[in-house]
Amino acid sequence: MAMGSASCISLVVLVALATAATGQLSSTFYDTSCPRALATIKSGVAAAVSSDPRMGASLLRLHFHDCFVQGCDASVLLSGMEQNAGPNVGSLRGFGVIDSIKTQLESICKQTVSCADILTVAAATPSSPLKGRHGLVPLGRRDSTTASAALANSDLPGPGSSRSQLEAAFLKKNLNTVDMVALSGAHTIGKAQCSNFRTRIYGGATNINTAFATSLKANCPQSGGNGNLANLDTTTPNTFDNAYYTNLLSQKGLLHSDQVLFNNDTTDNTVRNFASNAAAFSSAFTTAMIKMGNIAPLTGTQGQIRLSCSKVNS
Ligand code: HEM
Repeated sequence: MAMGSASCISLVVLVALATAATGQLSSTFYDTSCPRALATIKSGVAAAVSSDPRMGASLLRLHFHDCFVQGCDASVLLSGMEQNAGPNVGSLRGFGVIDSIKTQLESICKQTVSCADILTVAAATPSSPLKGRHGLVPLGRRDSTTASAALANSDLPGPGSSRSQLEAAFLKKNLNTVDMVALSGAHTIGKAQCSNFRTRIYGGATNINTAFATSLKANCPQSGGNGNLANLDTTTPNTFDNAYYTNLLSQKGLLHSDQVLFNNDTTDNTVRNFASNAAAFSSAFTTAMIKMGNIAPLTGTQGQIRLSCSKVNS
């Protein structure tokens, strides 16, 4: 199929990122040790998403919550521990999908494919701009033997964060402000619970569209209904597009931490750019996802390849 020059350039940039910036990670890591690894992960995710359309979003979030705590080392998959931290408890989804893909992989390539890599590839499929570009995602991460609820609490940004708090949290992971705005565009899919946006819709926020706030109140009462869900992108909730940013332009960001990206401040121009230029968003998102996937990986003989993603090897 013919490819536009913009895609060609972004592919060149991606290959450069995939090879140069990642040290020992490599996009061909499993080509000889487990040639069916990527196809197995892809088909496992596709099956899960076809029975639960929200699962693509949940797996993407799981990868983010893995990478921001100790690096992309599958620490979030270990039972208990990080899973009990404030930003995770009662809200992360997708553990069973990763476990069942791992079981399949163990039957074809014993103790070869790490849980951290399964999560990385699963996050790139099937709805994000990384779809179809698995061949470019650097692999070779190994799994941690530890997890830290304390680090999850300190390093994962919360929905009430200010723009400068978000910037600091991303900078701590070597992700710049444009990366932060682009990665927040993941909120073009998936859902949030009432407890995470109640303060924004009832708390007298001045940067919220009034009709939008009123419509959300119907399913998010002032008390009770904590787990009631709303789409993070109320315009096109099931499509990975740039509507997240056009929503922000009309003060229809669901979370406080979404709307602070467009609030008469330094990130406004990036939001305007992504709102008007879908290709610019797609390319920045892909670049930032690869950077996020490169946060402090365990490689070589560090860590282990878990046999089961939810527990360390005995
Ligand atoms: C900028 C800081 C961020 C904050 C404060 C934040 C916060 C949140 C919150 C509170 C939820 C709803 C959880 C719930 O109610 O159960 C959520 C959902 C989600 N987040 Fe974020 N997030 C941020 C960045 C990111 C990033 C970087 C990604 C991925 C690249 C991401 C992907 C998602 C996805 C896909 C969902 C929906 C999950 C689902 O439907 O299961 N978020 N986020």
